Amino acid sequence: MNVIHRRGWNMPESQATPEHLFFNRRDFLIGGATAIAASSFAAPASAQRVADAKDPTADLYPAKRNEMFTLDRPVTDEKLNGNFNNFYEFGMQKTIAEAAQALPIRPWTVKIDGMVEKEQTLDIDTLIRKVGIEERLYRHRCVEAWSMAVPWSGFPMAKLVAMAKPLGSAKYVRMETFMNPKVAGEQRKTWYPWPYVEGLTMAEAGNDLTFLVTGAYGHPLPKQHGAPLRLATPWKYGFKHIKSIVRFTFTDKRPVGYWEMLQSSEYGFWANVNPEVPHPRWSQASEEVIGTGERRPTLLFNGYGAQVADLYKGLEKTERLWA
Ligand code: MTE
Repeated sequence: MNVIHRRGWNMPESQATPEHLFFNRRDFLIGGATAIAASSFAAPASAQRVADAKDPTADLYPAKRNEMFTLDRPVTDEKLNGNFNNFYEFGMQKTIAEAAQALPIRPWTVKIDGMVEKEQTLDIDTLIRKVGIEERLYRHRCVEAWSMAVPWSGFPMAKLVAMAKPLGSAKYVRMETFMNPKVAGEQRKTWYPWPYVEGLTMAEAGNDLTFLVTGAYGHPLPKQHGAPLRLATPWKYGFKHIKSIVRFTFTDKRPVGYWEMLQSSEYGFWANVNPEVPHPRWSQASEEVIGTGERRPTLLFNGYGAQVADLYKGLEKTERLWA
């Protein structure tokens, strides 16, 4: 087994990156010639970088900061954040920034369908200009027990929900990432349930904290963070923050996310941060603040309880509200 020890938080990657699901993967690899053939597809990332035209919304950055959203810690260094990512479409390791540059992000459209008055396909630049953007400082807590603090730019998801005009019967929003195995090498591994999917309840989607991100650190979103549109729900573990979204489907069926599909006992629908509920393989009581060497106690709802605890009132007994 390939175990990579990381400085600082020092957890073997096989444990620290639960999404790797090493055992499942090994079983798959042992299990089939198809798997072996598919794994040999990986091309060197440096050969795939696409030359992009200037982002058509670049003039909107830096967006005005919304001072309602403050931090209890310094913002993470941009370079560090941009080189320590989870974007499994481009590789199972944290250093996928270079490989992610292969993703073409213009033209980019977002489909809105399912239980809505009328299906729509929106051009990303038209959407961004129509809704307008602001900057917010958010904490980010990964299920792997590390955290960062990020200046995201974007708009409340409530604005997209309003544009979508969902029917009263819609209970959830299902979000989907692009599917492009030509540039995203891991998507050629057909034993994973691509495309990446995540879901929220309608109440979660409409909460003021739920943010659709278009930029970071005062400029358009770098590809490795999920350009041109990703989700930020800072009271939930990071795997809920789906990247490079192409589709929002309003539905009455609870969506099954990518990780839930792979390992439902470890990565559930709700995934709200709770230091008292350990992951089956490690504690969630504290987190390594990336770039500082500091270990901090993790806060319930990642410190956002005042804004979101009400969403879960009455559900405690019927739902498992933590990853
Ligand atoms: N979205 C897609 N499409 N693919 C992914 O692999 N990884 C998730 C989430 N969104 C992921 C994704 C995980 S596990 C985390 S912690 C965050 O993205 C990481 O976001 P960052 O790289 O911007 O820090």
